[in-house]
Amino acid sequence: MPDYVLTNKELEKMVETTDEWITSRTGIKERRILKGKNQGVSVMAIEAVNSLLKKTDTDPKEIDLIIFATITADMTFPASANIIATAVGATHAFSYDLSAACSGFLYALTTGASFIESGRYKKVIVIGGDKMSSILDYTDRTTCIIFGDGAGCVLLEPTTEEVGVIDYILKSDGSGENYLHMKGGGSRMPASHETVDNRLHSVYQEGAAVYKFAVTNMAEVAAQVAERNHLTKENIDWLVPHQANKRIIDATANRVGIAEDKVMMNIERYGNTTAGTIPLLLWDYEKKLKKGDNLLMAAFGGGFTWGAVYVKWAYNS
Ligand SMILES: CC(C)(COP(=O)(O)OP(=O)(O)OC[C@H]1O[C@@H](n2cnc3c(N)ncnc32)[C@H](O)[C@@H]1OP(=O)(O)O)[C@@H](O)C(=O)NCCC(=O)NCCS
Repeated sequence: MPDYVLTNKELEKMVETTDEWITSRTGIKERRILKGKNQGVSVMAIEAVNSLLKKTDTDPKEIDLIIFATITADMTFPASANIIATAVGATHAFSYDLSAACSGFLYALTTGASFIESGRYKKVIVIGGDKMSSILDYTDRTTCIIFGDGAGCVLLEPTTEEVGVIDYILKSDGSGENYLHMKGGGSRMPASHETVDNRLHSVYQEGAAVYKFAVTNMAEVAAQVAERNHLTKENIDWLVPHQANKRIIDATANRVGIAEDKVMMNIERYGNTTAGTIPLLLWDYEKKLKKGDNLLMAAFGGGFTWGAVYVKWAYNS
């Protein structure tokens, strides 16, 4: 996480909003912002990967693959994953970015697990992270209050034990383009004076439509993954929900019947870090996790994309 803390109180001075409104509608109190010139999302990802390598005593040369879920890559190309791999010394790895907005980490996690299951690769690092402050309009009170910056990562390895990524459902629906997008800077609308004047290089969101979609669909796939794996409120140890809005998290927990003390939550401190939320929850809660714990992860986001993943935690911290 970057050091700079942007509080609701500070946002009150930037747009017409109040701490009370933001807290009651979203659950967010503050978020982190990566400040400084030429500081791309890879800065946070590199730090996350380096601390993971150190903690797991892994030689970076043993890494076979790095997948980076993000929508705020340092540049359109090359992939930020290439930059990260070189910076951490993963000289034998191939690497690529994956774009699935707030569901990015779940898409990347399941993809990484499939590479391991194929038997071809032994060590895969999956990163989720975004520098949302780089694509926010800080005069638009409906979007700038929600998002923050951050990145986290995990290491995947083969095992003969019944742990790891057990099951998942992933979905996408391109009609969601209308409600959540950034128009400027892509091949359809390359950067021009017009795109800058019309503020098309920042997130556009129809919050109420996204909210309605998220509440229904994230809860639905989470319930489906739970049901087909005989996961109930008794044997689910943790719900690990994308941190977009506390009200959406509560609705998902209710649908799956999970009590609040089993729901991972850090939205009040970080806001929505897009692909970063789920690995950052794992980082914050790691010390409470035990080998064999049943984790039900769920996310939704731009695309629309959404999904749920059942993970059996692989180690004691
Ligand atoms: C964005 C969101 C918090 C807005 O909450 P909401 O209850 O739906 O609020 P609405 O958009 O209906 O707006 C209600 C009113 O609050 C106002 N408002 C919007 N943002 C505001 C802010 N930051 N401060 C104060 N008022 C605000 C609106 O202008 C509107 O005023 P009006 O009734 O006079 O027109 C909510 O829709 C949401 O969380 N949506 C999902 C977003 C999301 O998860 N995105 C990430 C996708 S991964």
